[in-house]
Amino acid sequence: MSHLTQSPAWRALADHRDHMAHTSISGLFAQDDRRFERFSMEAAGIFVDYSKNLITTETLGLLGALSRQAGVEDRRRAMFAGERINTTENRPVLHVALRERSGKPIIVDGKDVIPDVFAVLAKMRRFTDAVREGKWRGYTGHAITDVVNIGIGGSDLGPRMVCEALKPYGDKGPTTHFVSNVDGADIAEVLPSVDLETTLFVISSKTFTTRETLLNARTARNWLLSSGAPESAVAKHFVAVSTNADAVAAFGIDLSNMFEFWDWVGGRYSLWSAIGLPIALQIGMDGFEALLGGAHAMDRHFAEAPLEQNLPVLLGMIGIWYTNFFGANSQLIAPYDRYLHRLPAYLQQLDMESNGKSVTLSGKRVDYGTGPVIWGEPGTNGQHAFFQLLHQGTALIPADFIACMQPQRALDVHHDVLLANCFAQTEALMNGLQVAGAPHRSFDGNRPTNTICMDSLEPAALGALLALYEHKVFVQGIIWNINSFDQWGVELGKKLAVVIESEISESSAASTHDSSTNGLIERFRQRRMKKADPAIGDRSDHESS
Ligand code: F6P
Repeated sequence: MSHLTQSPAWRALADHRDHMAHTSISGLFAQDDRRFERFSMEAAGIFVDYSKNLITTETLGLLGALSRQAGVEDRRRAMFAGERINTTENRPVLHVALRERSGKPIIVDGKDVIPDVFAVLAKMRRFTDAVREGKWRGYTGHAITDVVNIGIGGSDLGPRMVCEALKPYGDKGPTTHFVSNVDGADIAEVLPSVDLETTLFVISSKTFTTRETLLNARTARNWLLSSGAPESAVAKHFVAVSTNADAVAAFGIDLSNMFEFWDWVGGRYSLWSAIGLPIALQIGMDGFEALLGGAHAMDRHFAEAPLEQNLPVLLGMIGIWYTNFFGANSQLIAPYDRYLHRLPAYLQQLDMESNGKSVTLSGKRVDYGTGPVIWGEPGTNGQHAFFQLLHQGTALIPADFIACMQPQRALDVHHDVLLANCFAQTEALMNGLQVAGAPHRSFDGNRPTNTICMDSLEPAALGALLALYEHKVFVQGIIWNINSFDQWGVELGKKLAVVIESEISESSAASTHDSSTNGLIERFRQRRMKKADPAIGDRSDHESS
């Protein structure tokens, strides 16, 4: 048994769980007509109704004791102070410094990082203004109409999700496109849809070593050059966002066209850095800074509010309650807003890459559940697909419903119908329905939800929402005593892919793997078709990697 599961706070929660297992959420509402007011709160413009959970004041008190015992307050302080809390990579974790609006110093290795953050923001402003005002021109003298971001993971999911979410704010900016997958179909779908004379490529990679990104970037550069553009055109059509200046220069991008960030920014926490360049290009730098401002407001709330009145802490603790005391192993994200359709994918990386861990900070195997599977789709679409399982399946799946009070597109009664459905689902999940003699038409209910509300999906509100989830994930990682900021689990597959890639082009059959892997490589070698794609001027027949 681990220290955690033997601890007094954990055992008290286990006892409390046995008591609560005989309670229903609807019963808790029947006992307290002020439950909604008592179990909801607002911070940084984000209102969260967490009353439809199987919790009481006692539950929150016990979870608060667990959080204190785990050292949430001290680890929170340590993060904001720039201490090296990412121990396996020996790095501070300072995405909060990227949105520190007050100029308050944050010291890393004896140096205040804030002036560098502000300098990159100023460079982003000069550049995005020039592009948006038509002063930055392509090599034939035309203004930029399209931006293609090439990146993957945190160098794609954050900016892509925000660009989708804030599309209505982008009418004066270039159109943004995103290429992430090494599957050639990804870039082959985008290139024919843009004009190379008016397209800017943003090559986004923290390390600038990621195979997918470098291959896509090379394909894009070949596309430009194979059209007859001179080598000097690359400087007009390619910029880079990275921490690795040497690799950027080696790729052939002028360092004056590089936007820097730092190793204390984790990939999945990087949209606030220059990785957010496509966002700033699309909505303008004022909008990007409003996004940072919203996140900063949530940072202040997280840093300052007591644990029991702290939204990220509350959401983190409620998640722990279901994961560790009710055996829930997944969490649904259901945004009732079409513009948030990429939010579940973004939160998958944020949560699963952060908390998908099974050893503690000191390397001991955990004997309790950690990060849940995150998944989701916008409502109301999900209702007509997988909600059946939420209502009548055997698994307990806590769900976050996300709603905006004002629509981005006000059309007839659409928004009223949308939100009516959102609220109806949380009510149905909680109350259920018993139909006498018809078990197949009955609903058990007692299925927990949070409803997270913004007044409207504007940059500041979105920033606050994303920071809320970032800090929630951090709080859970603290309680589980794991490192939420490394991602060693992605390394093994990357290394093996390099080996297999070289074996695919060898003359003899692969023999060093298990018979399944050998067999699949061989089947592919015999059946693959290697041909160039003339539509995008692909020269892959002529080049090796
Ligand atoms: O493979 C996982 C990962 O390292 C993520 O953590 C990261 O966001 C992504 O790859 C992309 O990395 P980079 O920005 O260095 O290309």
